[in-house]
Amino acid sequence: MYRALRRTIRFLKEKGGVVVFSVENIGHQRWIHPASAAVLALFDGQNDDEQVRADIARLFLVEPGKAETIQAKVLRNFGDTLDTFDQQRASSLRYVAKDLLYEPEGPMAAKRLSQPIEVAWLITERCHCSCRYCCIRTAPAAAEMPEMSTEQALAFADDCVGTGVQKVFVHGGEPFLRTDTTAVIARLLAGGIFVQTSTKRRLARDMVRDLANAGLEELQLSIDTVRPELAEELIGIEGYLDRVAFPNLELLLEHGIRPRVNTVVMSYNVAEIPSLLRALAARGVRRFTLSGYLRGDWRHDDRHFAGGDALAVMAQQVGALVEQEGLDVELPPLGSPRDLSIGGKRYASCGGGSSGLVVGADGRVSLCDRLLPYPETEVGNVTRSSLMEIWQSPQLEALVSPDPEDFCGTACDGCDQLEACSRRIRCYHRALRISGRLFGPDYLCDVVPAPPIRYF
Ligand SMILES: C[S@@+](CC[C@H](N)C(=O)[O-])C[C@H]1O[C@@H](n2cnc3c(N)ncnc32)[C@H](O)[C@@H]1O
Ligand code: SF4
Ligand code: SF4
Repeated sequence: MYRALRRTIRFLKEKGGVVVFSVENIGHQRWIHPASAAVLALFDGQNDDEQVRADIARLFLVEPGKAETIQAKVLRNFGDTLDTFDQQRASSLRYVAKDLLYEPEGPMAAKRLSQPIEVAWLITERCHCSCRYCCIRTAPAAAEMPEMSTEQALAFADDCVGTGVQKVFVHGGEPFLRTDTTAVIARLLAGGIFVQTSTKRRLARDMVRDLANAGLEELQLSIDTVRPELAEELIGIEGYLDRVAFPNLELLLEHGIRPRVNTVVMSYNVAEIPSLLRALAARGVRRFTLSGYLRGDWRHDDRHFAGGDALAVMAQQVGALVEQEGLDVELPPLGSPRDLSIGGKRYASCGGGSSGLVVGADGRVSLCDRLLPYPETEVGNVTRSSLMEIWQSPQLEALVSPDPEDFCGTACDGCDQLEACSRRIRCYHRALRISGRLFGPDYLCDVVPAPPIRYF
């Protein structure tokens, strides 16, 4: 049996241990002992299990019997980070086992990582669409607004690579309104960064060819419905499906880039989801993300929310379809996060400031794309400072570990959960929405009465 570390798996060496995560699901991070990470690193697809056991014996200076026990334990606990093959592969060695041998110091799960591993980059905040549900405060495509120059954007891409960022989500606005977005993506990919990007713009053939040549494996197409009139109504673009989405899909397939469809599930399309999946599967799409509608404060309308019952029916139907058609479908959260959170006595935690950052078109940095329009959440600008300087800045620290004084006059003032809530990284957007201030109770808080607005 041959095994190799999955291509999406990344390690980050921290004082307290090695953080293991998949670039496809950065929110799920496991802290493991460096010795276990060192063993995982030995699986390179070229050496079979027996040879790996011999490597373990050499690395840890142990007898073969002990090496076998170590291998079995690591496979039992972390086998899901490995791909398995019957045949030998060319070596895919990504981490050097010896470099992962160190004595951890301090707690295993630190509040925040020593560096950002993920960046969401709104490379432009301009957009040619006017999606009714968009949670980003966009400007029209032709608007004059400050944006990083190509030189600055490429320098920032280099900074991401140098800092050890593992994933960049290039979005916006409409990322492909910029003619240099392809070059920026190519620079990130060349630096070993996993790039995710998303579009509602008709892509030119040479652009898709360049992206394929640069090594982009997957590109997200946003398709919320296969009903042409509804698509036009939701997005504000005439002929969106026939003139944009479907031609893009064909171009991607032609160039070997896997299309992933993102569908925002709302009241208007929730009943249509199974037929949407079938129709797009017939056109060659295998991967889907069904996103829950997120409340923004730009074009928000409560009518966009799908009802809980409709979501449950949809999830059941999709489950059956996934089995039948062998599709890869990520479902939206089912049930109210507020109820789930309060029932479980824990609030959803956020990666903003703990494992990642959001960068706006002009280089300003915040915790979350929906907070970018609020200058009080700006923690730096990548055209003036490096990502690491911003990561270690007092401005970011003040949001990640807020001063209890900031909460004076709110329910959090004197609350015995204050430290625990800050430890999870507060959602300042939710706090703003319910109390009009950053430093206040979270929407998910079970100490204050249920807020009068619906957030999820
Ligand atoms: C903000 S857009 C940027 C990229 C590009 N303009 C697009 O629409 O694909 C990224 C993704 O977020 C989705 N999105 C926008 N507003 C949303 C909301 N309120 N809730 C959930 N997803 C949303 C879009 O449909 C798209 O798939
Ligand atoms: S969802 Fe994307 S395409 Fe639609 S308005 Fe927002 S940024 Fe533009
Ligand atoms: S959000 Fe709620 S639980 Fe947390 S500190 Fe404030 S009042 Fe206490």
